[in-house]
Amino acid sequence: MTAAQLKTWTTTQEEEDRMYDGHLHHWRAMIALMAEQTLAGKKVLDFGCNQGGFLRTLYKSRPYEMGVGIDIAAESLAVARQKAAGIPAVYETVAEFLGKQPQNLFDMAFSHEVIYLLPDLAAHAQLMRTLLKPGAPYYAATGCHTENPLWKDWHPAISAYSNIPVPHYSLNDYVAAFVQAGFHAEFRPFGIQGFIPAEPDDKVYFPSPAAKADYYARSKMLFRFTRKD
Ligand SMILES: C[S@@+](CC[C@H](N)C(=O)[O-])C[C@H]1O[C@@H](n2cnc3c(N)ncnc32)[C@H](O)[C@@H]1O
Repeated sequence: MTAAQLKTWTTTQEEEDRMYDGHLHHWRAMIALMAEQTLAGKKVLDFGCNQGGFLRTLYKSRPYEMGVGIDIAAESLAVARQKAAGIPAVYETVAEFLGKQPQNLFDMAFSHEVIYLLPDLAAHAQLMRTLLKPGAPYYAATGCHTENPLWKDWHPAISAYSNIPVPHYSLNDYVAAFVQAGFHAEFRPFGIQGFIPAEPDDKVYFPSPAAKADYYARSKMLFRFTRKD
């Protein structure tokens, strides 16, 4: 299946629908870690928005003027549109959105667990440079990288339900792509924001609560890439 025909990123509806509950506490942590306390009057982008959960969550705590969610998965976007009532956000495929040749549009951008799936990080960094205004930050979160000790188990597990190939990127691969595209690069681990949900039956992602605590303390990263000029 090519990206242009993709209905959902996951091969099963179960995995697709599980992302909201699984990622809600990550989105809240990202929002809590942002430097910006208000998004009033701001235009924000969620790259790889899936069913739109992040932009809905963000609007509740930091209302923005306009949100745009883009993704390659048409059915996920349809769900995002159905759930968008009361939120000033639009959802489009990447191709639809880029067809309008947007430039210097966004005050801020986000992606949560998307950059690890992209086939060309340099092209992504260049695209974000085009979409963001000078000086604007891009918060990109991922724990999927080769320095995560759990990655050797995660890569086959994720590949089994992903409709697209899953690359192997190091943390430096992400940083280098954005530095070369003219961004100032910063990062921090997510750390522990409040209590971590405990799932005793989870043997694939976190073999023990200690492994999960280590993941948030050391492996799950929030990058802040700021467009220099
Ligand atoms: C692991 S999911 C994360 C979804 C959402 N950001 C969240 O936090 O729940 C990855 C998402 O990235 C999207 N995606 C994958 N490759 C993409 C690309 N090249 N451009 C835009 N979105 C992409 C998938 O369709 C999927 O919705």
